[in-house]
Amino acid sequence: MIIWSIANQKGGVGKTTTTVSLAGLLAERGARVLLVDTDPHASLTTYLNIDSESVSASLFDLFQVKEITATEVRPIIMQTAFHAIDIIPAHMSLATLDRVMGNRGGMGLVLKRALHTLRNEYDYVLIDCPPILGVMMVNALACSHRILIPVQTEFLAMKGLERMMRTLQIMQKSRSAPFKVCIVPTMYDKRTNASMQTLRELKTRYSDKVWASAVPIDTKFRDASLKHMPPSMYAKGSRGVYAYKTLLNYLRRLDQDDR
Ligand SMILES: Nc1ncnc2c1ncn2[C@@H]1O[C@H](COP(=O)(O)OP(=O)(O)OP(=O)(O)O)[C@@H](O)[C@H]1O
Ligand SMILES: [Mg+2]
Repeated sequence: MIIWSIANQKGGVGKTTTTVSLAGLLAERGARVLLVDTDPHASLTTYLNIDSESVSASLFDLFQVKEITATEVRPIIMQTAFHAIDIIPAHMSLATLDRVMGNRGGMGLVLKRALHTLRNEYDYVLIDCPPILGVMMVNALACSHRILIPVQTEFLAMKGLERMMRTLQIMQKSRSAPFKVCIVPTMYDKRTNASMQTLRELKTRYSDKVWASAVPIDTKFRDASLKHMPPSMYAKGSRGVYAYKTLLNYLRRLDQDDR
């Protein structure tokens, strides 16, 4: 089971879009995919046409049990309308997690323990993170084999990325293995200076951590989200989907090289 988190402390950079795009492509290639929506805003959950308010058991509950076993984890998994894509949906209660649990010790590995119980059931777990550093993001980062950081190719993007990289540096101190990071340039518009300059700057500053290509601006992503469908299933031949296919091939090569 391979676990990727899709994270950036900056909002609206394409985290949820990246998560659902990669999930669709992985499922089409025969992988069993579990999505985890850790954002109290529940964008990923809503994207997949699940009403987060109607969810009865949630990730939040796992923070309150003594020992996490499959019995606790099973009920919080839901099937989506798409073959081989399941989801642990978000619930509003996640918004209170930091207030309720933030100061207790040992809260950083809850998701890791939960996913461990599912290790034989899924090939890939993709965790969509909220744009806030809190208990949920810490949990997501702690259990991931790789962190994908979508970065919008515009002038203010560098600041958000620097903040995210600092967070990883701080968390790195309590880990032995270094974080594996892949910066994913998104919403690239080759007609604008801002896009071109940002992409150039990303490659100069973060060289081998940056995916060498970029996801272009593509209105099909918005259309796919309105239809509640993974982009690859809604607009197979679109430029945006093609970009995510290239990204997925790249990530799989990285994972193979690591083995
Ligand atoms: N490559 C793209 N081209 C055009 N629109 C895009 C692209 N990627 C994402 N979008 C659109 O941009 C908006 C924000 O994207 P998304 O929700 O994926 O960002 P996010 O980082 O998850 O945001 P948040 O921080 O609020 O969770 C959405 O309306 C989405 O459809
Ligand atoms: Mg999101």
